[in-house]
Amino acid sequence: MIALGCDHGGFEIKQALIRHLEERGLEYKDFGTYTSESCDYPVYGKAVARAVQSGECDRGIIICGTGIGISITANKFKGIRAALCTNTFMAEATRLHNNANILAMGGRVTTIEDAIKIADVFLDTPFSNEERHIRRISMIEED
Ligand code: RB5
Repeated sequence: MIALGCDHGGFEIKQALIRHLEERGLEYKDFGTYTSESCDYPVYGKAVARAVQSGECDRGIIICGTGIGISITANKFKGIRAALCTNTFMAEATRLHNNANILAMGGRVTTIEDAIKIADVFLDTPFSNEERHIRRISMIEED
């Protein structure tokens, strides 16, 4: 189950991702926002982070104008590793190396076409499970 969330700056990408996930037959839960009206990105970043943190959803995708505010929000939750990606290389690397559980993107940065490619790579790439990456990820949680 994939948790989706965005503010008004990410609304178009979220709607395009919903159509794409439906075409792929992947299950998702849409935490809003549900219109293009101006709204507060922390509301949606928190909702997706909580859904992934609790195990209700396996992965999340969050989008605001830049991807910055919503990823800062999600990364305050223990166990959440939200990665702001602007290309498929970053999406692949963050799955392999960081085992990122939330993908963040910027609706004013990334085209819809690229966002779909980035999301596909993020969803389809497994964690490498390599010892050095496991060690580094556990170091993130140490303090
Ligand atoms: C909203 O105008 C904008 O600040 C928001 O979408 C995001 O870019 C914040 O980081």
